[in-house]
Amino acid sequence: MAEQATDDLKARIERARVPEHVAIIMDGNGRWAQLHGEHRIVGHANGVRSVREALTGATEIGVRYLTLYAFSTENWNRPKEEVDALMDLLVKTVVDEITELQENSVRLNAIGDLDSLPTACRATLDDAIASTAKNERITLTLALSYSSRWEITRMVRSIAAEVKAGTLDPEKIDERTVAQHLCTHNIPDPELLIRTSGELRISNFLLWQIAYAELWFTPVLWPDFRKQHLFEAVLDYQGRERRFGKTSEQITAS
Ligand code: IPE
Ligand code: IPE
Ligand code: MG
Repeated sequence: MAEQATDDLKARIERARVPEHVAIIMDGNGRWAQLHGEHRIVGHANGVRSVREALTGATEIGVRYLTLYAFSTENWNRPKEEVDALMDLLVKTVVDEITELQENSVRLNAIGDLDSLPTACRATLDDAIASTAKNERITLTLALSYSSRWEITRMVRSIAAEVKAGTLDPEKIDERTVAQHLCTHNIPDPELLIRTSGELRISNFLLWQIAYAELWFTPVLWPDFRKQHLFEAVLDYQGRERRFGKTSEQITAS
């Protein structure tokens, strides 16, 4: 899409109602590669540009939190060659982008079973997270070796341990307690969830956190995702009425 058309979309976005947190299930790298007669990993490599587009687009319109599903617990079951290539790509991308992240005041964050990542990968990630910790413009969270059921299981285990130790009264457990024991305890819930590649499913992503998120699906394959698509999703989101269980009349009166 011409730059002008992307700018026109951006200009139509109402800045006061931009979602604070946008989450994206980046899907379709393998199919993109197949379409281009390339190996799957070429699709993943081409998805890096889309990450940059999503991040700069989100920053430009004032999104404060961008969360990207980069590697699921279930993705460990892919062929070893693909898993290794994805881990290498992660390290390379973080190293390549760190200056850019600093210049744009991006705070890097990660959620998931980070202990399961290869040592080099974990070390690069920890360094980047530490060196961007004071950045304030936008928080970029990578979900790595993440799945919602893994996260919820871990949350139950830690709450149970506190109850057993006598530091938590079971009667006092409420929604806040649950939220505080999830990996996302320091991040607001996403208002908008995007999934690319035409799949209409959540694939074990942020199940608790998306309770009231607006969902936006696009057939665009992740390596073809550009700012324009993010802006389209935000515009669509702004045209929706978020009722949170109330009636439309109650919403418009308030
Ligand atoms: C998303 O693209 C990236 C990861 C899950 C790591 P896929 O690799 O799932 O691409 P498709 O779904 O096979 O096209
Ligand atoms: C979801 O994509 C996980 C990520 C985007 C990292 P998948 O391609 O793994 O999801 P399924 O298997 O099609 O549900
Ligand atoms: Mg997929």
